[in-house]
Amino acid sequence: MSKSRIIVSLDYSDPDLAYRQLRRLPPDHCRVKVGKELFTSAGPALVRKIIGAGYDVFLDLKFHDIPNTVARACEAAAALGVWMLNVHVAGGREMLRYARKAIDEAPHKPLLIGVTVLTSITAEDLKETGVRAGTDTQVLRLTRLCREAGLDGVVCSAHEVSVIRRAVGADFCLVTPGIRPAGTAANDQKRTMTPGAAIAAGSDYLVIGRPILQAPDPLEALLAIEQEIAMVRRRAAPSRPAGGRR
Ligand code: C5P
Repeated sequence: MSKSRIIVSLDYSDPDLAYRQLRRLPPDHCRVKVGKELFTSAGPALVRKIIGAGYDVFLDLKFHDIPNTVARACEAAAALGVWMLNVHVAGGREMLRYARKAIDEAPHKPLLIGVTVLTSITAEDLKETGVRAGTDTQVLRLTRLCREAGLDGVVCSAHEVSVIRRAVGADFCLVTPGIRPAGTAANDQKRTMTPGAAIAAGSDYLVIGRPILQAPDPLEALLAIEQEIAMVRRRAAPSRPAGGRR
């Protein structure tokens, strides 16, 4: 299993292109996120192939359904051999408990991560769905619910990491997208943070796509980010292991 804090987001619909791009990056220097786009076009076969090539896979399918259906989906994902998977916390306590139980009973146990409030959702959107709390309050409420239901962590913005870390403590895995090394394009990301700053704030894993995969030399970009993270971690003593169960 890789020790890398970097999860490369494989955002492609073409399985061959996705795999070719990934193979430029050695599995001991990164992990891989397979989301709805790639999974819908390429299916479990590609996930198996990626795992077979030695990569840890974060299956980002954000399950949200009735408890039994989510439990069976988690079981199927665990059987694929993925390293991490996620569910929408909005599915409720019972759904989260079923997901936890399904993973606990599986022979291979991926990290189980919750998605709180999508960063595309505004306070106005929440209000329209009957949620009167602001987004920050709602993120914290759903994070606590995750903790109580025994999930291993949450996906969150790097800007929320320090507040969430204070609320849930050290042994909880924080996974953050929206990461941009200094001097790289923000693309469509609005509130970005550098890899070093996100790790210093308390993030465990950084989800990074375009700054690596669209760089002139993806491996060089990956190794530069790895070095930036290592420098921050050397400065922060004593170093904290990544949160959540392994
Ligand atoms: O290319 P980039 O580094 O922006 O890719 C980030 C990845 O993280 C994409 O797959 C994107 O969908 C995902 N993501 C995000 N922001 C969130 C949740 C997920 O960028 N709040």
